[in-house]
Amino acid sequence: FSLKPYNTFGVDAKAQYFTEVNNIEELKEAITFSKSHSLQLLFLGGGSNILLTKDFNGLAIKLDLKGISEQNINENEILVTAKAGENWHEFVSYCLQKNYGGLENLSLIPGNVGTSPMQNIGAYGTEIKDTFVSCQVLDLDNMMITTFNLEECRFGYRDSIFKQEGKGRYVILEVTFKLTLKDHHIKTEYGAIQSELEKSGITNPTIQDVSKAVISIRQSKLPDPKVIGNAGSFFKNPTIPLTQFESLQQKFENIQGYPNGDKVKVPAGWLIEQCGWKGKQIGNVASHQLQSLVIINATGNATGKEIFDFSTEIINSVKEKFGIELEREVNII
Ligand code: EPU
Repeated sequence: FSLKPYNTFGVDAKAQYFTEVNNIEELKEAITFSKSHSLQLLFLGGGSNILLTKDFNGLAIKLDLKGISEQNINENEILVTAKAGENWHEFVSYCLQKNYGGLENLSLIPGNVGTSPMQNIGAYGTEIKDTFVSCQVLDLDNMMITTFNLEECRFGYRDSIFKQEGKGRYVILEVTFKLTLKDHHIKTEYGAIQSELEKSGITNPTIQDVSKAVISIRQSKLPDPKVIGNAGSFFKNPTIPLTQFESLQQKFENIQGYPNGDKVKVPAGWLIEQCGWKGKQIGNVASHQLQSLVIINATGNATGKEIFDFSTEIINSVKEKFGIELEREVNII
């Protein structure tokens, strides 16, 4: 069974078995089947953060649980719960239509609601942890449904318990966010949002204006996975000790960095570009010409292995030039 339509890189890897599940009962049935046949499991959400490097010898389960529910807390706050299979951007658009604030900076991020807590998706000054309340999960160890609250998820930059100790153990079924009804926190600190709003002459932006600005920034430099296969940022922005940053500044006066305690976060896109990768293509794979942090399936025929090897070459050259080891953000299967 080809997984090509189920991963945004558009890699044509195959799964031995495949099924789509629409509710928890179907999900449990599929898991029971895998256990009785000793099959490995692969859960697919939007497929926007995985790289399939080879065929999958097991059962791939596409989570299609759908539905949105709401519960008012007070006159300014509402809890909104979306099932794992809801498309992220459609969910954000739904909230904006109802004028629920909090997710607007996360407009147009590919993927589904169910995978958003995995890596604490974030963009333009916001992360889901800022509005996240809890998520309901199925624990594969005991087949019980439990809830993780904000603290239990241990969110960090592109990180959560689901990528660490909990890796492979939990299937996220639904996520609840606390959103605002009236007093919205408009976040426009991110430089590009400011200039986008200025361009449109907006001085007092609504959450819908912020969303439009974010959409326009994203469309101007991030490739649409429906057109060119990609998984967004392929690497995390590395955090290095201040002392290392200072000595790099001696050698590379244009190096950018965002101080964070005694550490500095350096934009991986800049490091990669400095190594000459921006827009460079090898075989079927390339670094995107407008955002070098994004690796693309340039011809549509790339294999996962080719993409992986390309990323290794980038890691090696950044390491050689800057002494910084880039970490992959995308899940390698
Ligand atoms: N830069 C370059 N060359 C490049 C790309 C970027 O020099 O090819 C420089 C830019 O000039 C800028 C800095 O790097 O000064 C940061 O660039 P940008 O604003 O594009 O953000 P980013 O750090 O590259 C991160 C996220 C994105 C998110 C944006 C906006 C990570 C790994 N990536 O990218 O997330 O949309 O910030 O908040 O943190 C994703 O995770 O898939 C993703 C797209």
